[in-house]
Amino acid sequence: MKKILVTGGTGFIGSHTTVELQQKGYEVIILDNLSNSQEDVIDNITKITGVRPTFGKIDVADRTQLFDFLAKHQGIESIIHFAASKAVGESVKEPLKYYRNNVNGVINILEAMKEFGISNLVFSSSCTVYGQPEVLPVTEQSPIQPALSPYGNTKQINEEIIRDFIKVNPELHAICLRYFNPVGAHPSSLIGELPLGVPANLIPFITQTAAGIRECLSIFGNDYDTPDGTCIRDYIDIVDLANAHIAAINRMEQGKQKTGVEFFNIGTGNGLSVLELVKTFEEATGQKLNYKIVGRREGDIEKVWADTSVANNELGWKAVVPISQTMLNAWNWQKKISNIK
Ligand code: WQD
Repeated sequence: MKKILVTGGTGFIGSHTTVELQQKGYEVIILDNLSNSQEDVIDNITKITGVRPTFGKIDVADRTQLFDFLAKHQGIESIIHFAASKAVGESVKEPLKYYRNNVNGVINILEAMKEFGISNLVFSSSCTVYGQPEVLPVTEQSPIQPALSPYGNTKQINEEIIRDFIKVNPELHAICLRYFNPVGAHPSSLIGELPLGVPANLIPFITQTAAGIRECLSIFGNDYDTPDGTCIRDYIDIVDLANAHIAAINRMEQGKQKTGVEFFNIGTGNGLSVLELVKTFEEATGQKLNYKIVGRREGDIEKVWADTSVANNELGWKAVVPISQTMLNAWNWQKKISNIK
């Protein structure tokens, strides 16, 4: 059974990717410092797959912790690296926390690949590297624009570090997946998004408003240059996103890469406005949403969605979950964690 390390594996994307990996026969080892997730996610992953992943409470930004752990867990062939701080707003207030955690994490992971003979890396990148694209949809050749936040900058910096390192270590392979907007929850309602405090992202705020936890959804601006005036995003189902990681691992395992480091846009290729998403949620769940239009949020991109043809053709991967099902899964998950029947 192929051994694979998933850093940040108790997080939103990491937990869903672990489930898909286990169901496809991989032995998964999760490392997570639990700074933004809970250990009982491991129990729920086990309930879904029947297999308990090995878990290490490790901060991958701490080289000694990481290397001591890997010295006791040899034979790992690939790493999927999710572990990072990811709150855009927080990164503006605490830039050094983001540079220290996110950049040191990648440097340690790359050194560990060399030290312990781990061949393949999938890196969790983001469409934020494109900023506000001039031309839509966004392709992998769209220009990388100056980051709008330290968080986004760490994604750009980490892509460059990976590229420079793999260039001089051609026996190693890496794929950077540039996610658009990950949303939804596992259809089992056993794992999903668990934002701490007031959600910054749209979907958890929608589901918490529908659950009565939040009074009202504030829609940040309806005066954008879009059909209904609200921002447009490419919302990708979390299980579709998880499976893109497996397609990336398979590509490297099968030696199909064309260059040492490759980049793929992971989205649906469809842009949806905030109001369209609210309407989709209401229709899919039967829950009327209380919302109001307020002023724009600082730093928001007006519209961005992916050209996914390279990922479709090269990775052999395509998003398949309909957005209405994604909304229903998100709502069922919210009802589960809020004990709503
Ligand atoms: C989506 C749309 C908001 C909340 C962020 C990160 C990005 C990536 C994905 C990690 C925007 C609007 C939101 C609310 C609203 N994360 N909105 N009311 O900003 O596109 O991307 O998450 O890689 O790096 O920046 O996602 O969900 O915050 O916002 O109107 O209460 O919903 O204005 O148009 P975003 P989001």
